[in-house]
Amino acid sequence: MAKRRMRRIGLLTGGGDCPGLNAVIRAVAKSLMHEQGAEIVGFLDGFEGLVTDRTMTLRWKNVSNILTLGGTILGTSNTANPFQWAEKRRGKVIITDRSQRALAVFRKYRLDGLVIIGGDGSLTIAGGLAKLGVPVVGVPKTIDNDVLGTELTFGFQTAVNVATDALDRLHTTASSHHRAMVAEVMGRYAGWIALHAGIGGGADVILIPEIPFRWESVFETCRERAGKGKRFSIICVAEGAAPDGGQMQVARQVEGSPDPIRLGGIGRLVAARIEESTGIEARATTLGYVQRGGTPCPFDRVLATSLGCRAAELAASGRWGRMAAWHGGKLTDVPLSEVAGGCRKVSRDDPFIAVARSVGTSFGE
Ligand code: F6P
Repeated sequence: MAKRRMRRIGLLTGGGDCPGLNAVIRAVAKSLMHEQGAEIVGFLDGFEGLVTDRTMTLRWKNVSNILTLGGTILGTSNTANPFQWAEKRRGKVIITDRSQRALAVFRKYRLDGLVIIGGDGSLTIAGGLAKLGVPVVGVPKTIDNDVLGTELTFGFQTAVNVATDALDRLHTTASSHHRAMVAEVMGRYAGWIALHAGIGGGADVILIPEIPFRWESVFETCRERAGKGKRFSIICVAEGAAPDGGQMQVARQVEGSPDPIRLGGIGRLVAARIEESTGIEARATTLGYVQRGGTPCPFDRVLATSLGCRAAELAASGRWGRMAAWHGGKLTDVPLSEVAGGCRKVSRDDPFIAVARSVGTSFGE
Protein backbone atom coordinates (compact mmCIF):
# COMPACT_ATOMS: atom_id res chain seq x y z
CA MET A 1 0.00 0.00 0.00
CA ALA A 2 1.36 3.46 -0.95
CA LYS A 3 2.42 5.43 2.09
CA ARG A 4 0.44 8.65 2.61
CA ARG A 5 2.59 11.71 1.90
CA MET A 6 3.69 13.45 5.05
CA ARG A 7 1.92 16.82 5.41
CA ARG A 8 4.06 19.94 5.42
CA ILE A 9 2.54 22.87 7.23
CA GLY A 10 3.90 26.43 7.44
CA LEU A 11 3.53 28.47 10.60
CA LEU A 12 4.10 32.14 11.38
CA THR A 13 3.44 34.66 14.14
CA GLY A 14 2.50 38.14 12.89
CA GLY A 15 1.94 41.55 14.51
CA GLY A 16 2.85 42.60 18.04
CA ASP A 17 3.93 39.76 20.32
CA CYS A 18 1.88 38.58 23.27
CA PRO A 19 2.11 35.98 26.05
CA GLY A 20 1.04 32.55 24.80
CA LEU A 21 2.46 32.68 21.25
CA ASN A 22 4.95 29.93 22.02
CA ALA A 23 2.20 27.88 23.65
CA VAL A 24 0.27 28.02 20.34
CA ILE A 25 3.37 27.18 18.27
CA ARG A 26 3.94 24.20 20.56
CA ALA A 27 0.32 23.04 20.36
CA VAL A 28 0.05 23.36 16.56
CA ALA A 29 3.42 21.70 15.94
CA LYS A 30 3.13 18.93 18.52
CA SER A 31 -0.37 17.91 17.56
CA LEU A 32 0.37 17.95 13.80
CA MET A 33 3.63 16.04 14.32
CA HIS A 34 2.02 13.59 16.71
CA GLU A 35 -1.26 12.96 14.92
CA GLN A 36 -0.31 13.53 11.27
CA GLY A 37 3.43 12.93 11.22
CA ALA A 38 3.62 16.39 9.65
CA GLU A 39 6.69 18.52 9.06
CA ILE A 40 6.43 22.08 10.30
CA VAL A 41 8.20 24.98 8.61
CA GLY A 42 8.26 28.16 10.68
CA PHE A 43 8.62 31.51 8.85
CA LEU A 44 10.81 33.95 10.74
CA ASP A 45 9.63 37.41 11.82
CA GLY A 46 6.06 36.99 10.62
CA PHE A 47 5.21 37.91 7.03
CA GLU A 48 8.74 39.26 6.62
CA GLY A 49 10.04 35.67 6.55
CA LEU A 50 7.34 34.65 4.06
CA VAL A 51 8.36 37.39 1.61
CA THR A 52 12.13 37.24 2.16
CA ASP A 53 12.23 33.43 2.40
CA ARG A 54 13.63 32.98 5.90
CA THR A 55 12.52 29.83 7.67
CA MET A 56 13.28 27.45 10.51
CA THR A 57 12.22 23.81 10.51
CA LEU A 58 10.39 23.15 13.74
CA ARG A 59 11.32 19.81 15.23
CA TRP A 60 10.06 18.27 18.43
CA LYS A 61 13.06 19.56 20.37
CA ASN A 62 12.40 23.17 19.22
CA VAL A 63 8.82 23.13 20.43
CA SER A 64 9.40 21.25 23.64
CA ASN A 65 9.70 23.27 26.85
CA ILE A 66 8.34 26.52 25.38
CA LEU A 67 4.83 26.43 26.90
CA THR A 68 5.65 29.03 29.54
CA LEU A 69 8.08 31.11 27.48
CA GLY A 70 7.00 34.69 26.64
CA GLY A 71 7.46 36.20 23.15
CA THR A 72 7.75 34.01 20.06
CA ILE A 73 10.61 31.69 19.12
CA LEU A 74 9.86 32.53 15.46
CA GLY A 75 10.15 36.30 15.89
CA THR A 76 7.50 38.68 14.58
CA SER A 77 7.02 42.00 12.81
CA ASN A 78 4.11 44.38 13.06
CA THR A 79 5.03 46.28 9.93
CA ALA A 80 5.58 43.50 7.34
CA ASN A 81 2.59 43.10 5.00
CA PRO A 82 3.03 41.26 1.67
CA PHE A 83 0.23 43.35 0.11
CA GLN A 84 1.75 46.66 1.22
CA TRP A 85 5.44 45.95 1.50
CA ALA A 86 7.30 48.97 2.87
CA GLU A 87 10.94 49.57 1.93
CA LYS A 88 13.17 52.56 2.46
CA ARG A 89 14.77 53.74 -0.78
CA ARG A 90 16.92 56.89 -0.71
CA GLY A 91 15.35 57.91 2.61
CA LYS A 92 11.76 57.50 1.30
CA VAL A 93 9.35 54.72 2.21
CA ILE A 94 8.14 52.98 -0.96
CA ILE A 95 5.12 50.65 -0.78
CA THR A 96 4.85 47.74 -3.21
CA ASP A 97 2.71 44.60 -3.51
CA ARG A 98 4.85 41.52 -2.73
CA SER A 99 1.98 39.06 -2.36
CA GLN A 100 3.05 37.09 -5.46
CA ARG A 101 6.51 36.75 -3.95
CA ALA A 102 4.91 35.42 -0.71
CA LEU A 103 2.92 32.95 -2.81
CA ALA A 104 6.09 31.79 -4.61
CA VAL A 105 7.91 31.24 -1.30
CA PHE A 106 4.92 29.34 0.09
CA ARG A 107 4.94 27.09 -3.02
CA LYS A 108 8.71 26.63 -2.92
CA TYR A 109 8.37 24.71 0.38
CA ARG A 110 5.59 22.51 -1.08
CA LEU A 111 3.41 23.30 1.90
CA ASP A 112 -0.11 21.94 2.27
CA GLY A 113 -1.17 24.97 4.26
CA LEU A 114 -0.17 27.87 6.45
CA VAL A 115 -1.17 28.53 10.06
CA ILE A 116 -1.14 32.27 10.82
CA ILE A 117 -1.15 33.32 14.47
CA GLY A 118 -2.00 37.01 14.59
CA GLY A 119 -4.29 39.88 15.49
CA ASP A 120 -6.75 41.71 13.24
CA GLY A 121 -4.01 43.02 10.90
CA SER A 122 -2.35 39.62 10.39
CA LEU A 123 -5.70 37.85 10.05
CA THR A 124 -6.76 40.38 7.40
CA ILE A 125 -3.53 39.55 5.52
CA ALA A 126 -4.40 35.86 6.04
CA GLY A 127 -7.75 36.53 4.33
CA GLY A 128 -5.91 38.18 1.42
CA LEU A 129 -3.56 35.21 1.05
CA ALA A 130 -6.56 32.85 1.13
CA LYS A 131 -8.05 34.78 -1.82
CA LEU A 132 -4.77 34.18 -3.70
CA GLY A 133 -5.26 30.45 -3.16
CA VAL A 134 -3.07 29.87 -0.10
CA PRO A 135 -4.78 27.35 2.23
CA VAL A 136 -4.69 29.23 5.55
CA VAL A 137 -5.91 28.72 9.10
CA GLY A 138 -5.89 31.56 11.65
CA VAL A 139 -5.34 31.69 15.40
CA PRO A 140 -6.44 34.90 17.16
CA LYS A 141 -3.76 36.57 19.30
CA THR A 142 -3.53 39.91 21.04
CA ILE A 143 -3.47 41.36 24.50
CA ASP A 144 -6.13 43.82 23.24
CA ASN A 145 -8.83 41.08 22.97
CA ASP A 146 -10.26 42.93 19.96
CA VAL A 147 -10.34 40.22 17.24
CA LEU A 148 -13.76 39.75 15.64
CA GLY A 149 -15.27 36.25 15.69
CA THR A 150 -13.91 35.25 19.11
CA GLU A 151 -14.86 36.31 22.62
CA LEU A 152 -11.34 35.78 23.88
CA THR A 153 -7.81 36.01 22.55
CA PHE A 154 -4.86 34.49 24.38
CA GLY A 155 -2.56 37.07 25.96
CA PHE A 156 -5.45 39.21 27.16
CA GLN A 157 -5.80 37.60 30.57
CA THR A 158 -2.06 37.90 31.23
CA ALA A 159 -2.17 41.60 30.33
CA VAL A 160 -5.16 42.06 32.66
CA ASN A 161 -3.22 40.33 35.45
CA VAL A 162 -0.23 42.66 34.95
CA ALA A 163 -2.44 45.75 34.84
CA THR A 164 -4.45 44.65 37.89
CA ASP A 165 -1.26 44.03 39.83
CA ALA A 166 -0.11 47.55 38.87
CA LEU A 167 -3.40 49.04 40.11
CA ASP A 168 -3.00 47.18 43.43
CA ARG A 169 0.46 48.68 43.83
CA LEU A 170 -0.74 52.14 42.84
CA HIS A 171 -3.48 51.88 45.47
CA THR A 172 -1.06 51.70 48.40
CA THR A 173 1.17 54.54 47.24
CA ALA A 174 -1.88 56.65 46.24
CA SER A 175 -3.42 56.26 49.67
CA SER A 176 -0.15 57.02 51.50
CA HIS A 177 0.39 60.25 49.54
CA HIS A 178 -3.29 61.22 49.11
CA ARG A 179 -2.88 61.41 45.36
CA ALA A 180 -4.91 60.71 42.26
CA MET A 181 -3.08 57.92 40.45
CA VAL A 182 -3.70 57.42 36.75
CA ALA A 183 -2.68 54.13 35.11
CA GLU A 184 -2.62 54.10 31.31
CA VAL A 185 -3.09 50.61 29.89
CA MET A 186 -2.84 49.31 26.32
CA GLY A 187 -5.70 48.06 24.13
CA ARG A 188 -5.55 50.25 21.03
CA TYR A 189 -9.08 51.21 19.94
CA ALA A 190 -10.78 48.86 22.44
CA GLY A 191 -11.19 49.18 26.20
CA TRP A 192 -11.11 45.50 27.23
CA ILE A 193 -7.90 45.66 29.28
CA ALA A 194 -8.96 48.88 31.04
CA LEU A 195 -12.43 47.52 31.79
CA HIS A 196 -11.28 44.19 33.23
CA ALA A 197 -8.19 45.47 35.06
CA GLY A 198 -10.22 48.45 36.29
CA ILE A 199 -12.81 46.13 37.85
CA GLY A 200 -10.19 43.69 39.16
CA GLY A 201 -8.07 46.50 40.60
CA GLY A 202 -10.98 48.49 42.04
CA ALA A 203 -10.45 51.65 39.97
CA ASP A 204 -12.68 54.58 40.87
CA VAL A 205 -12.79 55.75 37.26
CA ILE A 206 -12.40 53.64 34.12
CA LEU A 207 -11.97 55.48 30.83
CA ILE A 208 -12.35 53.51 27.60
CA PRO A 209 -12.46 54.49 23.90
CA GLU A 210 -16.03 53.22 23.52
CA ILE A 211 -17.37 55.74 26.09
CA PRO A 212 -16.13 59.29 25.43
CA PHE A 213 -15.64 60.95 28.81
CA ARG A 214 -16.37 64.41 30.24
CA TRP A 215 -13.50 66.08 32.08
CA GLU A 216 -15.83 67.56 34.69
CA SER A 217 -17.19 64.10 35.56
CA VAL A 218 -13.67 62.76 36.20
CA PHE A 219 -12.80 65.77 38.38
CA GLU A 220 -16.09 65.42 40.26
CA THR A 221 -15.38 61.76 41.17
CA CYS A 222 -12.00 62.76 42.67
CA ARG A 223 -13.55 65.70 44.56
CA GLU A 224 -16.49 63.60 45.82
CA ARG A 225 -14.13 60.93 47.13
CA ALA A 226 -12.05 63.57 48.88
CA GLY A 227 -15.27 64.96 50.37
CA LYS A 228 -16.06 61.49 51.78
CA GLY A 229 -12.64 61.29 53.40
CA LYS A 230 -11.04 59.18 50.66
CA ARG A 231 -8.09 61.35 49.85
CA PHE A 232 -6.93 59.26 46.91
CA SER A 233 -8.43 58.09 43.63
CA ILE A 234 -7.43 55.46 41.10
CA ILE A 235 -8.12 56.11 37.43
CA CYS A 236 -7.57 53.33 34.89
CA VAL A 237 -7.43 54.79 31.40
CA ALA A 238 -7.20 52.91 28.11
CA GLU A 239 -4.64 54.36 25.70
CA GLY A 240 -7.43 54.93 23.18
CA ALA A 241 -9.76 56.82 25.54
CA ALA A 242 -10.69 60.37 24.54
CA PRO A 243 -12.83 63.17 25.93
CA ASP A 244 -16.20 63.76 24.34
CA GLY A 245 -15.59 65.78 21.19
CA GLY A 246 -11.81 65.32 21.57
CA GLN A 247 -9.15 63.23 19.89
CA MET A 248 -7.20 60.12 20.91
CA GLN A 249 -3.60 60.87 21.96
CA VAL A 250 -1.10 59.72 19.33
CA ALA A 251 2.39 58.90 20.63
CA ARG A 252 4.01 58.23 17.26
CA GLN A 253 3.43 57.24 13.64
CA VAL A 254 5.25 54.17 12.34
CA GLU A 255 5.98 54.71 8.65
CA GLY A 256 5.14 51.70 6.49
CA SER A 257 3.04 49.97 9.16
CA PRO A 258 -0.45 48.78 8.02
CA ASP A 259 -1.90 50.88 10.88
CA PRO A 260 0.79 53.53 11.45
CA ILE A 261 -0.84 55.12 14.53
CA ARG A 262 0.62 54.25 17.95
CA LEU A 263 -1.48 55.58 20.80
CA GLY A 264 -0.19 56.93 24.10
CA GLY A 265 -0.21 60.00 26.32
CA ILE A 266 -3.79 60.16 27.61
CA GLY A 267 -2.69 59.06 31.13
CA ARG A 268 -0.33 62.02 31.53
CA LEU A 269 -2.97 64.39 30.20
CA VAL A 270 -5.64 63.07 32.61
CA ALA A 271 -3.27 63.39 35.59
CA ALA A 272 -2.27 66.94 34.62
CA ARG A 273 -5.89 68.04 34.17
CA ILE A 274 -7.00 66.50 37.51
CA GLU A 275 -4.23 68.30 39.39
CA GLU A 276 -4.90 71.60 37.63
CA SER A 277 -8.69 71.48 38.14
CA THR A 278 -9.07 69.89 41.58
CA GLY A 279 -5.84 70.80 43.34
CA ILE A 280 -5.39 67.09 44.20
CA GLU A 281 -1.84 66.02 43.52
CA ALA A 282 -1.83 63.55 40.61
CA ARG A 283 0.67 61.20 38.98
CA ALA A 284 0.52 59.07 35.84
CA THR A 285 1.99 55.63 35.18
CA THR A 286 2.07 54.21 31.67
CA LEU A 287 2.27 50.43 31.88
CA GLY A 288 3.35 49.91 28.26
CA TYR A 289 5.10 46.78 27.09
CA VAL A 290 5.23 44.97 30.45
CA GLN A 291 1.63 44.03 29.60
CA ARG A 292 2.88 42.15 26.53
CA GLY A 293 6.05 40.55 27.83
CA GLY A 294 6.79 37.58 30.02
CA THR A 295 5.21 34.27 30.81
CA PRO A 296 1.52 33.62 30.00
CA CYS A 297 -0.79 33.10 32.98
CA PRO A 298 -2.29 29.59 33.35
CA PHE A 299 -5.58 30.61 31.70
CA ASP A 300 -3.73 31.87 28.61
CA ARG A 301 -1.66 28.67 28.47
CA VAL A 302 -4.86 26.63 28.42
CA LEU A 303 -6.54 28.92 25.86
CA ALA A 304 -3.45 29.12 23.63
CA THR A 305 -3.02 25.34 23.71
CA SER A 306 -6.71 24.78 22.94
CA LEU A 307 -6.77 27.28 20.04
CA GLY A 308 -3.52 25.80 18.69
CA CYS A 309 -4.94 22.26 18.78
CA ARG A 310 -8.13 23.45 17.03
CA ALA A 311 -6.02 25.12 14.31
CA ALA A 312 -4.07 21.86 13.88
CA GLU A 313 -7.36 19.94 13.55
CA LEU A 314 -8.61 22.41 10.91
CA ALA A 315 -5.35 22.02 8.97
CA ALA A 316 -5.35 18.24 9.29
CA SER A 317 -8.91 17.98 7.98
CA GLY A 318 -8.31 20.53 5.20
CA ARG A 319 -10.86 23.00 6.56
CA TRP A 320 -8.99 26.03 5.25
CA GLY A 321 -10.04 29.67 5.40
CA ARG A 322 -11.14 29.40 9.05
CA MET A 323 -9.96 30.77 12.40
CA ALA A 324 -9.94 28.87 15.70
CA ALA A 325 -12.14 30.77 18.14
CA TRP A 326 -13.70 30.81 21.61
CA HIS A 327 -17.43 31.37 21.83
CA GLY A 328 -19.96 30.83 24.62
CA GLY A 329 -17.44 28.97 26.77
CA LYS A 330 -16.58 26.59 23.91
CA LEU A 331 -13.82 26.06 21.42
CA THR A 332 -15.06 26.60 17.88
CA ASP A 333 -14.01 28.04 14.52
CA VAL A 334 -15.31 30.79 12.25
CA PRO A 335 -14.71 31.80 8.62
CA LEU A 336 -11.71 34.12 8.24
CA SER A 337 -13.86 36.33 6.03
CA GLU A 338 -15.86 37.31 9.16
CA VAL A 339 -12.70 38.44 10.94
CA ALA A 340 -10.87 40.51 8.33
CA GLY A 341 -10.74 44.28 8.47
CA GLY A 342 -12.60 44.81 11.75
CA CYS A 343 -12.05 45.22 15.46
CA ARG A 344 -14.22 43.96 18.35
CA LYS A 345 -15.06 46.73 20.78
CA VAL A 346 -16.67 46.85 24.21
CA SER A 347 -20.37 47.44 23.77
CA ARG A 348 -22.11 49.88 26.09
CA ASP A 349 -24.35 47.05 27.29
CA ASP A 350 -21.46 44.74 28.12
CA PRO A 351 -22.40 43.06 31.44
CA PHE A 352 -19.07 44.10 32.99
CA ILE A 353 -19.91 47.76 32.45
CA ALA A 354 -23.06 47.22 34.50
CA VAL A 355 -21.03 45.35 37.15
CA ALA A 356 -18.56 48.24 37.45
CA ARG A 357 -21.37 50.78 37.67
CA SER A 358 -23.07 48.76 40.43
CA VAL A 359 -20.05 49.20 42.68
CA GLY A 360 -19.93 52.93 41.95
CA THR A 361 -17.19 53.01 39.34
CA SER A 362 -17.46 55.97 37.01
CA PHE A 363 -16.90 55.84 33.26
CA GLY A 364 -16.55 59.63 33.21
CA GLU A 365 -19.88 60.16 31.47
O1 F6P B 1 -1.89 45.32 19.71
C1 F6P B 1 -1.06 45.18 20.82
C2 F6P B 1 -0.46 46.50 21.21
O2 F6P B 1 0.38 46.30 22.33
C3 F6P B 1 -1.47 47.59 21.50
O3 F6P B 1 -2.09 47.46 22.74
C4 F6P B 1 -0.61 48.82 21.34
O4 F6P B 1 -1.41 49.94 21.00
C5 F6P B 1 0.29 48.44 20.19
O5 F6P B 1 0.33 47.03 20.16
C6 F6P B 1 1.70 48.97 20.28
O6 F6P B 1 2.37 48.63 19.12
P1 F6P B 1 3.96 48.71 18.93
O7 F6P B 1 4.53 47.40 19.42
O8 F6P B 1 4.15 48.88 17.47
O9 F6P B 1 4.47 49.88 19.72
